[in-house]
Amino acid sequence: MKGIVLAGGSGTRLRPLTQVLSKQLLPVFDKPLIYYPMSVLMLAGIRDILVISSPDHMEQYQGLIDDGSGLGINVQYAVQEEPRGLAEALIIGREFVGDDQVALVLGDNIFHGHDFAGLLREQVAQLSGATLFGYSVADPERYGVAVLDDGGRLVDIEEKPANPRSSLAVTGLYLYDSRACEYAAESRPSARGELEITEVNQRFIKDGQARLVNLGRGTTWLDAGTHESLLEAANYVQVLQKRQGVQIACLEEVAYRMGYLDHQGLEAAIERVGSASDYGAYLRRVGAEEPLPDPVGRG
Ligand code: DAU
Repeated sequence: MKGIVLAGGSGTRLRPLTQVLSKQLLPVFDKPLIYYPMSVLMLAGIRDILVISSPDHMEQYQGLIDDGSGLGINVQYAVQEEPRGLAEALIIGREFVGDDQVALVLGDNIFHGHDFAGLLREQVAQLSGATLFGYSVADPERYGVAVLDDGGRLVDIEEKPANPRSSLAVTGLYLYDSRACEYAAESRPSARGELEITEVNQRFIKDGQARLVNLGRGTTWLDAGTHESLLEAANYVQVLQKRQGVQIACLEEVAYRMGYLDHQGLEAAIERVGSASDYGAYLRRVGAEEPLPDPVGRG
């Protein structure tokens, strides 16, 4: 399976922070926002990742993540000239995805929780059609909202409905088989002029090929699209990391525990980060431990 992180957009709701900086490079406590969705793909077992961003910010992402070899993965880059909609990521990434399956994650979405990585790997292993992840929220009108039938099957998604028919938001993580890129290419701009991911999802629903997995209360889903949600995400990460003594979305640690980096690779990563930061010091502690038999994220 291939992975795409969509990290473009104009970040207008976060001005002036995003006047010159890309939104997905803004800090969420101690690391750039994009680390969180990157870690999700890596924990799902994905080692081929395409980062899509706007022309102005591409170099910054390349400077940060490079070709991914420092994480034992392969990272490529592609430009989205204008924020023409989430589904455009699948058009831009069409050649990169080829006949493979693809996981698309929005660069401002943070997932964390009990056995989330295990759940993800299970869903990847049994994927056919589209698998979406639902999360109960207090303000569903801000999101794509899942409509379920009496048997709990996904029958529709409404994008930002004024009167939501459920409280289940469709999160920004989408697992697709190879049809997704074709469906995106066939989609037409919505009333707000965007190629909506919801339209791609509706095609899979029509085919009877879409399922919604409810993430439930054991998982946290945050999107950091406003100043307030960015601060809340930072507070969440700070509180948990301090209490538990383990990092959320420490990419070098994920790479090491997933077996993408061996001990030598981790040591090289530690050298690059240095140990002046808590992040670097934490990595040093990870390197000094016996490798764990099971990857992070399980519990
Ligand atoms: O976060 C989950 C929600 O994401 C879903 O529930 C909705 O169904 C889905 O449409 C999307 O809604 P948003 O209102 O959050 O989408 P937004 O336009 O804010 O874009 C999400 C992120 O993707 C944002 O960080 C900017 C980036 N983006 C957006 C567009 C439209 C791009 O990189 N390129 C784009 O063309």
